[in-house]
Amino acid sequence: MEKNAIITGASKRIGKAIANHLATKGWNLVLHYNQSGKEATDLQNKLSLKYPHQNFVTVKANLGETKDTNELIISSVNEIGTLNMLVNNASIFEESDIKATTSELFERNIQINFSSPFFLIQNFAKQTQNGVIINIVDTRITTNQNSHAAYTLSKKALWELTKMAAFEYSPNIRVNAIAPGVTLPPPGGSENDLWQMAEKIPMQKPGGIDPILKSIDYIIENNHLTGQLLFCDGGENIGKR
Ligand SMILES: NC(=O)c1ccc[n+]([C@@H]2O[C@H](COP(=O)([O-])OP(=O)(O)OC[C@H]3O[C@@H](n4cnc5c(N)ncnc54)[C@H](OP(=O)(O)O)[C@@H]3O)[C@@H](O)[C@H]2O)c1
Repeated sequence: MEKNAIITGASKRIGKAIANHLATKGWNLVLHYNQSGKEATDLQNKLSLKYPHQNFVTVKANLGETKDTNELIISSVNEIGTLNMLVNNASIFEESDIKATTSELFERNIQINFSSPFFLIQNFAKQTQNGVIINIVDTRITTNQNSHAAYTLSKKALWELTKMAAFEYSPNIRVNAIAPGVTLPPPGGSENDLWQMAEKIPMQKPGGIDPILKSIDYIIENNHLTGQLLFCDGGENIGKR
């Protein structure tokens, strides 16, 4: 099987770590970005130097726009060939409880975090007979925490979509999800904030990105696994101390 993957939001943070990791495993990569064009090109150059026999391309798309979303898979296939893996990682994380949520904020979160993965999955499935899809959700989907209401609802919906897509596209395409917990501070936040957030979770410390990368390996290697959710949250989903 060709090893061609697309990672959305690949230029920074968790998406970049996933890109670096998949590159070490021999994957050719479409590094999707929206605003971080420079970071995406820097990553592409770095990976191309390090792995000269693999192919790394960048593709821009605003996943808040239906047209861009609908064109992303086809533009990627034109650049790199048939895709066998889709990692739906790009996301926005906007603070707002239900009463403060405007229709614009609600629609933005649903569009970027849920509708765009929906249509990326649909378009991905049209171009391959054999593939793996990984949706990045969030351990918050197990709670009714309302501080980021539209975000959390979008990720709850993405998890439901994971199971439905796993059912519809079986046996050729496997669809699974990963739910990180306290991983990285939000942009602008500090390492200290992160440790405070982790104080009450069972493992009592932030997990970093490594558990996510190990879960990605597990999903890729276990070819009977579909419709499943792997928590990378130090046990947060079972309760806080
Ligand atoms: N960080 C954590 O601790 C944590 C915890 C739980 C779950 N997660 C999940 O893990 C994933 C990665 O988290 P992260 O913190 O690394 O994400 P992030 O830095 O907040 O965002 C990742 C990327 O999403 C892209 N993005 C945002 N709006 C977009 C748009 N309109 N169109 C296209 N791309 C857009 C951005 O690309 P550009 O920069 O190119 O615009 C951004 O670099 C997310 O799905 C998140 O929900 C993270």
